[in-house]
Amino acid sequence: MIKGFIFDLDGVITDTAEYHYQAWKRLADKLKISLDREMNEQLKGISRMDSLDRILALGNQIESYSVEEKERLADEKNEDYKKLILDVTPADLLPGISDLLANLKAAGIRLALASASKNGPVIMEKLGIADLFDVVVDPAGLENGKPDPEIFIKGAEQLHLKPAECVGVEDAQAGIEAINAAGIFSVGVGTKEAMEKADYAVADTSKLKLTDILERANS
Ligand code: BG6
Ligand code: MG
Repeated sequence: MIKGFIFDLDGVITDTAEYHYQAWKRLADKLKISLDREMNEQLKGISRMDSLDRILALGNQIESYSVEEKERLADEKNEDYKKLILDVTPADLLPGISDLLANLKAAGIRLALASASKNGPVIMEKLGIADLFDVVVDPAGLENGKPDPEIFIKGAEQLHLKPAECVGVEDAQAGIEAINAAGIFSVGVGTKEAMEKADYAVADTSKLKLTDILERANS
């Protein structure tokens, strides 16, 4: 019986996945590394520093920067990203998310956020949904990022639920792998190819219907 939902944030609740891409793209261009949307699929769900490492590896520049220089580059991307999220409002909830969250609350289902983003709490406030969530897993306290299941296991634990009592919702391949490895029912948002490992996948958030999800997750 499903009693909790554990959500990713960027690309599921709001379209900040696009802003992450734009900010990384700007940095990659500056470093003369070509980053495209296909490569960006591999960055979704991945922590800030791991994303930078993947971009530098793409340009064969992984050995070119010291730890301090990499921290400066990651800060530069984050400052750009923070400018892009300045104007986020409740109108930026992706289609269907407001209804889904309301239906979940009405059904007494507990909610957790499992986002790798350190900007997550600020964005939740801007979207006006912070109060709906019972738990926000702190990404700073994680030993391993997605696709490791740690963040979803912690989400279930902090909700005081077993993995089998939870559903996880993700738009990233690494995120779906993390949910699956946690023993949680995975719901993917995205193309069939990108979401092929999800237990249940929909093309976009407007198709995330609570009754459809529960029917599958509870069976
Ligand atoms: C994830 C995003 O949610 O958070 C990644 O999918 C991002 O693209 C990661 O790199 C870390 O975010 P932040 O805001 O801490 O740099
Ligand atoms: Mg995401």
